Amino acid sequence: MTKKMNVAVIFGGRSGEHEVSLVSADFIIKTLDKKKYNVIRIGITKDGQWIAGENSLDLLKSGDILKALKATLTPDTNIKSLVQICNKNYKELRIMSSNTNSHVNCGLQITDKIDVVFPVLHGTYGEDGTIQGLFELADLPYVGSGVLGSAVAMDKITQKNICMAANLPMADWVWLTKKEWHWLKKNKDVFKKWLNSTEKKLGFPIFVKPSNLGSSVGISKVKNRGEFIKAINLAGRFDRRIVVEKGVEDMMEIEVAVLGNGKPEASIPGQIIPSGEFYDYSAKYVDDRSEKIIPAPLPEKIIRQIQNIAVEAFKLLDCAGMARVDFFVEKKSYKIYLSEINTIPGFTSISMYPKLWQASGVSPQKLLDILIRLALERHGEKKQLITSIQMKDEWYK
Ligand SMILES: Nc1ncnc2c1ncn2[C@@H]1O[C@H](COP(=O)(O)OP(=O)(O)O)[C@@H](O)[C@H]1O
Ligand SMILES: [Mg+2]
Repeated sequence: MTKKMNVAVIFGGRSGEHEVSLVSADFIIKTLDKKKYNVIRIGITKDGQWIAGENSLDLLKSGDILKALKATLTPDTNIKSLVQICNKNYKELRIMSSNTNSHVNCGLQITDKIDVVFPVLHGTYGEDGTIQGLFELADLPYVGSGVLGSAVAMDKITQKNICMAANLPMADWVWLTKKEWHWLKKNKDVFKKWLNSTEKKLGFPIFVKPSNLGSSVGISKVKNRGEFIKAINLAGRFDRRIVVEKGVEDMMEIEVAVLGNGKPEASIPGQIIPSGEFYDYSAKYVDDRSEKIIPAPLPEKIIRQIQNIAVEAFKLLDCAGMARVDFFVEKKSYKIYLSEINTIPGFTSISMYPKLWQASGVSPQKLLDILIRLALERHGEKKQLITSIQMKDEWYK
């Protein structure tokens, strides 16, 4: 029998989507095939403390982390396991490396070697390339996109600029920094000019969004100048850069799940019918009245176009493993607009990502097997790349 793999599932995190992450992690931990995997649970609190142990998910849910075992991952490539941290004094952290027998009271490796990490962290410090950088340093295989793909997909402005350069269809948009906004407000004439020209270019309704956030936090749909100004002020409280986008009206919200590394595949698309005026935080997580229709009622030709754009966007942003690509499709004309790419999509029992693959013939358990295999494949591929060169004397001649 082959040895079971140790999968470290990381959840929670310093993000507005902390709670959603706990529900996603619960589903993933329950679904992982226990004949193949041992699960190592790692929780990150809202203020960024790391905890471990069988009960860490429950402790994070209850907020009762005083009893929790404090542990962390280190960037040292020789460790590859969770290391306990002395609660009383960080400076006392010692690491008992696998090849020394030194006696220490803290900083012990408390798990077997981790074979693969499954970050189930949505939003900031989890989906944005920061924690992926730690896995890279530690030389650990991990599920999902790498540093680059995660970072560019998390930032709406960068994501849009890349997709626009490849002529992928998107709603018209402009962007500005918070500093520019404050400057505009102080210079009445230019301010008016900017508002007039932006309103003319986009036309109401307009969507205003922080560039680097998710779950619709800080997003407003505005229909007049007064609301427009308030919305930019609000978005500026969440990010230094603000997206201002033409509202697509009378449209269907469509989502596609993409799976793979260098040659990814797209699932059948699904439709979201938000309970509110748009798919805001409450419609996503609070009121439970948004509907999901799988497969989305679209003509075959449009489905294929959407799938092609989804795969193209995934590759352009250097995504890996998984991503959910979202679209708006006009009801009458079926005109397609790429909306955004999420590299760690919701993964609860009712989330679109696993549901779309289930409807495409891949069960959630099989999907997790594939994601772990893709993580190992990507890590293996990277290991084979040449990272140092043997200098030869004749090169300098
Ligand atoms: N240009 C737009 N036209 C119409 N609806 C939009 C537009 N942009 C955003 N929305 C609505 O706002 C929701 C959240 O916007 P999105 O850009 O997906 O942000 P997030 O990353 O927070 O999910 C969308 O699902 C959609 O309902
Ligand atoms: Mg979205």
